[in-house]
Amino acid sequence: MKPKIILDCDPGHDDAIAIMMAARMTEVLGITTVSGNAPLDLTTDNALLLTELVGLEVEVHAGAEKPLLLPPRHAEEAHGKTGLDGPRRPDVVRSATSLDAVHFIIETIRSIENVWLVSIGPLTNIALAVQQAPDIVKRVAGISIMGGSAGPGNVTPTAEFNVWADPHAAAIVFNAGFEKFMMAGLNVTHQFGIDEQTISDLRDLGNPVAVFAADLFEFYLSSYQKRTHGQRVPLHDPCAVLAITHPEIFQFEFRNVCVETEGTHTRGMTVIDERGWGDRPVNCEVEYAIDRDRGMEIFLETMRTYTAK
Ligand code: BDR
Ligand code: CA
Repeated sequence: MKPKIILDCDPGHDDAIAIMMAARMTEVLGITTVSGNAPLDLTTDNALLLTELVGLEVEVHAGAEKPLLLPPRHAEEAHGKTGLDGPRRPDVVRSATSLDAVHFIIETIRSIENVWLVSIGPLTNIALAVQQAPDIVKRVAGISIMGGSAGPGNVTPTAEFNVWADPHAAAIVFNAGFEKFMMAGLNVTHQFGIDEQTISDLRDLGNPVAVFAADLFEFYLSSYQKRTHGQRVPLHDPCAVLAITHPEIFQFEFRNVCVETEGTHTRGMTVIDERGWGDRPVNCEVEYAIDRDRGMEIFLETMRTYTAK
């Protein structure tokens, strides 16, 4: 049986790939959107565009327009002005079912057993849901996030974008008491990189979803490599989906994770207790390694399932 998920996202090139994979590998109960890579109206429109592209008949609910306490900040340098720069943009016919993602999250978890929360943007919606309905924490199957890092950050030397964009929300979510909490931070997503070969593999598949992904990657690769001079470009968000569907390709460690909400140089840092002693309670399974080759195979196998030309 496929895992049932609510996908909370801010598409975003890698969010788009996560949606393409989740649509095939999980039962998506609904998509909720948040301000992050781009302003909320754009991330919502992008999510709608992607549901149309992959033929996913689910509701899209728009959520938080801004972080809990900080002003909104976006990632135009990585994802362009629209959040999904690169491919030719088809007209979007669908519209959001509501502007109350938090209500959707709460009611879905209260009415359906064993729902997974998959969060691949700033954690604002999830934090608001947990604050308004603490009972949902014990009802879910678990939460899998892309966020933070057991190592260097990307927006700052110590902070990863999703946690940095709304550290107060992230702190609430890490402290909420989820029994199963999996974290795909930059330390693992940087092991799951794409390159020119990935683009050519997608073009060979030739189906419209794979070609759209290839067009996304052309932009994503060049915007990333300009800034980082790196070889492979991390495919962050799909890791949070894969952690649920294919946990065997990851290496996890139980850790205590706290979020720095104030530090002068470290705001948005995930402080991970790796000492192996001390009395901080474990609240997270941190991903430390991924089998990249197997992950890429799964990715390409999934993209192949979209009808070929
Ligand atoms: C995260 O930030 C966003 O730019 C990506 O979509 C990903 O969720 C990586 O730091
Ligand atoms: Ca994202």
